[in-house]
Amino acid sequence: MGNLIEIKGVTHAYKTKAGPFPVLDNLNISVPEGSFCAVVGPSGCGKSTLTRLIAGLMFPDQGEVWLHGERVRSPRKTVGMAFQNPVLLEWRSILKNVILPLEIVAPAMPRAGKEERARELLAMVGLEGFEDKRPSELSGGMRQRASLCRALVHKPDVIILDEPFGALDAFTREDLWQTMHELRVKEPVTAVLITHDLRESVYLGDQVVVLSGRPATTQHVMQIDLPGPRPLEMLYAPESVERLSVLRQQIRIAQGRTETERGA
Ligand SMILES: Nc1ncnc2c1ncn2[C@@H]1O[C@H](COP(=O)(O)OP(=O)(O)OP(=O)(O)O)[C@@H](O)[C@H]1O
Ligand SMILES: [Mg+2]
Repeated sequence: MGNLIEIKGVTHAYKTKAGPFPVLDNLNISVPEGSFCAVVGPSGCGKSTLTRLIAGLMFPDQGEVWLHGERVRSPRKTVGMAFQNPVLLEWRSILKNVILPLEIVAPAMPRAGKEERARELLAMVGLEGFEDKRPSELSGGMRQRASLCRALVHKPDVIILDEPFGALDAFTREDLWQTMHELRVKEPVTAVLITHDLRESVYLGDQVVVLSGRPATTQHVMQIDLPGPRPLEMLYAPESVERLSVLRQQIRIAQGRTETERGA
């Protein structure tokens, strides 16, 4: 299996009144088909910008983004997205929120088929029985589960998760990490997961890419060759503790801080 996502030498600056504002600088990332790439880096370094370039919502000044052997030159319908704030539509039921991407990507699909697909996913994440509720009737964790279903409903090649678990409490977050592993077994997908949580990156990632401070470049790549679904206990194993320590040090470097400056 080859790389489904290729970010090759991507450099990008936002055009602002004060002049170009460099955000990405010669960024290189390869994500093999079916694998999860966790991306970590200091706040404001360009992670969300990267997701917009992968989804074809923006195009880089230099370099190339490739999906499935095709250069990204327009918005990609085959990308599913989920964000920190699930942005579900309050006037639609949970089921109808999940169906939404199908209405755009597969308008000709019979309604019953769309509903069946959405119900199947909602059941997988433990939301059976909540299909007819409104988003405000669900907890934050449940809304985020529904948002994951919406990202997956049209069987996208790629899902982009931009801090999807960031607003949840620690235990709910861990539950959702496990749900993510279970979903991967049933719905193999290639994913880019942006996160500020190093434990999350190690638990969910097949590789962890550390971005430098802005303008972001690929500072460090860590491979995590462990089969899934992974037990949560893996995070307490010495290898994981070692990985977390390496990543923490890399983040310090990305923030422009050294070990001695820490806590100063
Ligand atoms: N449309 C825009 N025009 C100009 N500057 C922008 C625009 N969008 C983002 N930026 C700037 O680009 C930089 C990178 O933004 P981006 O949202 O990609 O960072 P991020 O790594 O996702 O940050 P965070 O971790 O806080 O979510 C920031 O300094 C931001 O202020
Ligand atoms: Mg962001």
